[in-house]
Amino acid sequence: MDNSPVVAQADASSPNDTQENALLVGTAVSSDSPKKVRVGSDNDRQMMQRCLELARRALGRTSPNPLVGAVIVKDGEIVGEGFHPRAGEPHAEVFALRAAGNRAHGATIYVSLEPCNHYGRTPPCSEALIDAGVAKVVVGMVDPNPLVAGGGIDRLRRAGIEVLVGVEEAACHQLNEAFVHRILYKRPMGILKYAMTLDGKIATSFGHSAWVTSQEARSEVHQLRLSCDAVIVGGNTVRQDNPHLTSHQPGGHNPLRVVMSRRLNLPENARLWQTAEAPTLVLTEVGANPNFQDLLRKLGVEVVELPLLTPDQAMTYLYKRGFCSVLWECGGTLAASAIAQGAVQKVLAFIAPKIIGGSNAPTPVGDLGFTTMTEALSLERVRWRVIGVDCLVEGYLRQKSQ
Ligand SMILES: NC(=O)c1ccc[n+]([C@@H]2O[C@H](COP(=O)([O-])OP(=O)(O)OC[C@H]3O[C@@H](n4cnc5c(N)ncnc54)[C@H](OP(=O)(O)O)[C@@H]3O)[C@@H](O)[C@H]2O)c1
Ligand SMILES: [Zn+2]
Repeated sequence: MDNSPVVAQADASSPNDTQENALLVGTAVSSDSPKKVRVGSDNDRQMMQRCLELARRALGRTSPNPLVGAVIVKDGEIVGEGFHPRAGEPHAEVFALRAAGNRAHGATIYVSLEPCNHYGRTPPCSEALIDAGVAKVVVGMVDPNPLVAGGGIDRLRRAGIEVLVGVEEAACHQLNEAFVHRILYKRPMGILKYAMTLDGKIATSFGHSAWVTSQEARSEVHQLRLSCDAVIVGGNTVRQDNPHLTSHQPGGHNPLRVVMSRRLNLPENARLWQTAEAPTLVLTEVGANPNFQDLLRKLGVEVVELPLLTPDQAMTYLYKRGFCSVLWECGGTLAASAIAQGAVQKVLAFIAPKIIGGSNAPTPVGDLGFTTMTEALSLERVRWRVIGVDCLVEGYLRQKSQ
């Protein structure tokens, strides 16, 4: 991982080839664009965008920690940059301070998340910034944990350091939406992704589904996997599609591939059992098909037996493993169950301009038990984008209060 000390000219506007760029492909239309609140100068916002660009270099690798980037500016020049590469490693501010050395004295540091103020695996960054003698701290967003929110900022202010909070706040929040969800709800954020034809089918009546969408849309899905901690399918999808579920990027992060199967009557030679490329976890129920469990373990597949296999229990288990984001790439049966149990917060629906027909062809979401249209689950903050010839509808399910 490249987290080496950097001294660079301010080039915040330079494009990066990470997910954000892929997300900009196509035409975006939003149903509710909130008013943009502008905090800080143009230069402040540019520097914060640079922090986000740095933070994204660790996409998919930092859970249960957030993605954070930091930039130190002295006399108009960037003298140090850093990002948090993974849990257990130093925080972004520490890398930036190391790169800046004594040029941090009297400098301004930009950091996309409030500096920490507690002794965890590393000493608090607030103390490190005070010790380094920085003059000003510009913060993207306050720590989402209500128990510690504002603590780092208060500590810095009490030490006489000027602190500006909320620069590019919406973008900082967006980058760490899954982390924020994890902190607030003690569950990973669930993202349901599916690809369907214009007539609402995710496969033919014979179960064939390769491919519903174009190459461009599938590349977008590979990018999405790059940013997620786990991707889940059910037993039928393994039996019928034999998917890879990797990010298809040489050297890129792959999510943990998770199969939920109660019966465990799965093929012996599925692609998901090839664990050299990416790890696989099979979640099943206690006592299911012990011979097949042995075979999987010999192949390097992790098998975990839960007393009851449900989307809710799967999410509880994945939370305990430290995950922030879980991508549901299952068929309609499991998707309906995941939605009903509150395991889905965000929906990404790819719609291909083709018609396959078939009265029994599977659809993205199975039975939710609703009888009238008034019961429909409405998405919020909806965006539509055109990707290649396909359309992507993206939005959030309303979070049930807990
Ligand atoms: N176009 C797309 O985006 C897309 C994506 C995925 C799948 N598909 C298509 O969807 C079809 C499969 O649909 P599916 O709905 O059967 O999907 P699935 O993803 O295989 O989910 C159903 C399976 O999940 C397992 N499961 C474990 N716990 C469960 C629970 N609590 N509730 C429900 N299921 C649980 C069961 O496996 P066991 O039977 O092994 O116990 C069940 O058969 C295939 O034709 C596939 O091609 C399309
Ligand atoms: Zn810190």
